[in-house]
Amino acid sequence: MNPDRPSALLDGPGIERLRAALAGYTADAIHDLLGIAGTAALRRGDLAALRRHLTADTPVSTLVRLFLLGEPVDETAAARALHPLTTDAACAAGLLAVSAGAARAVLDIRPYAEAVPGLPGLPAAAAPPWWVVSDFGTDVRPGPLAADHVLGIGTAALTLAQATIRSPVAAALDLGTGCGVQALHLSRHAGAVTATDISHRALRMAATTAALSGASWDLRAGSLLAPVRGQVFDLIVANPPFVVSPGLRAGDGGYDYRDGGLAGDELCRRLVGALPGALAPGGVAQLLANWIIPTEAPWAERLHEWLAGGGCDVWVWQREVAEPAEYVALWLRDAGELPGTAAYARRYDAWLDWMTAAGIAGIGMGLITLWRTDSAVPAIVCEDIPQALEQPAGAYLPAWHARRRWLGEITDDDLLNSLLRTADGVVRTRQDLRADTGWQTVASTLRQSHGMRWEVDVDEAIAALLAGCDGRHRLHELVAVLAASLGATSDDVTAAAIPVLRDLVGRGFLEPAASG
Ligand SMILES: C[S@@+](CC[C@H](N)C(=O)[O-])C[C@H]1O[C@@H](n2cnc3c(N)ncnc32)[C@H](O)[C@@H]1O
Repeated sequence: MNPDRPSALLDGPGIERLRAALAGYTADAIHDLLGIAGTAALRRGDLAALRRHLTADTPVSTLVRLFLLGEPVDETAAARALHPLTTDAACAAGLLAVSAGAARAVLDIRPYAEAVPGLPGLPAAAAPPWWVVSDFGTDVRPGPLAADHVLGIGTAALTLAQATIRSPVAAALDLGTGCGVQALHLSRHAGAVTATDISHRALRMAATTAALSGASWDLRAGSLLAPVRGQVFDLIVANPPFVVSPGLRAGDGGYDYRDGGLAGDELCRRLVGALPGALAPGGVAQLLANWIIPTEAPWAERLHEWLAGGGCDVWVWQREVAEPAEYVALWLRDAGELPGTAAYARRYDAWLDWMTAAGIAGIGMGLITLWRTDSAVPAIVCEDIPQALEQPAGAYLPAWHARRRWLGEITDDDLLNSLLRTADGVVRTRQDLRADTGWQTVASTLRQSHGMRWEVDVDEAIAALLAGCDGRHRLHELVAVLAASLGATSDDVTAAAIPVLRDLVGRGFLEPAASG
């Protein structure tokens, strides 16, 4: 094999035979086989519960036993399920191992379907089926994992897939493709897909995923952006090895899928710094990342330092924060390292001691989206977004960016002269406390029932302004009415309201109506 041109695990005719064998092994067929409860067990990775729903003896159930459950299967049943691919060919490709009349899968192969926007989990109608090849997870092969483990479709992969902006683009890049899951999604809306990885094993699995799924990608080996130096893309997605560690390397306490071999959050910092140079004008890059929350400074300050000077508008979502001990335990367990063993205790202590010495108060986890605008004054917004978002979340990013650009360009005077409307689905909630004078409002919030599902506190005056924002009255007219009702001057109300209104436009509670 030419390492620069990674090839699938089977040659062309072999892939065609495997595709023929897998033709009936689809998300729908597995749903029919397992029923609602069995499919739910599969989704949550509860293999013991799944087994109880696997009563039929059909080629599809044999494929489920082999490639999802990793169970030994009678060799003749395996041969029947894999026909027209022979078990010898499957063994030679490293997909199967046969011993004493029993066949066992070496790799996880599973059907995968893109969710219909707004209806997560439902396969897109008429879309060609996808099959994804990866290593088995620790639920099937208890860990510790091998250092060159190739990750299957995990929660992080799905998070990124749902957050990706799915507009049609000419050229897209999946950096750190692993099993190829992001590249599959890209192939639905990108004219050309390039996928890279530092791991040759991963690239061969991605090549097999692509070939089985009828996709064609330019696969390149190498670290970060090195394999695509000199090229630019309209969309870049990356679920990189973002774990904050003392600089663990694969094979030396680290794993390809998790550790970039650089201490702390240096890999994410370097990647974020380099991504603008790989974007075409107007291009977008989206990556999952972890960052250090230092003891001494707010997390957003660190992110602003990473992002300044890149010529990109940026939205950073801090979705979760973990304290160091929780974080270390999470990632040791993720790799199947076993609590209670001497090796676990040694790694846990070394990792946590390093975190303490490095002054790490916590680790932020989230998504970074960069839009190349080449603006002299880019909008860089870093915020905590812990709420449950309406999925797919990527659908809300373009509108956020358009509102940010609008806010960046509009003066306060022009904002006052603009027509705004309160977005559909905004709900106001009030909490009243009984006082001597009767009911007194102690909390008043606005909540979005769709999209980003923001919830913000507002006072009576701002709530009244939003009630008046119907797209027909200019903001200064509404401010004048409010000022009169409060017995205040328009200037005072304006000064207090403008920053709040800008924030509400940024979050999408208010939308610019057609200017008139
Ligand atoms: C967390 S996995 C993500 C796999 C897949 N894209 C997904 O979304 O599930 C990270 C991938 O990055 C690869 N990787 C690790 N270090 C890398 C580097 N320096 N440059 C490029 N890829 C790297 C790993 O081999 C692994 O396949």
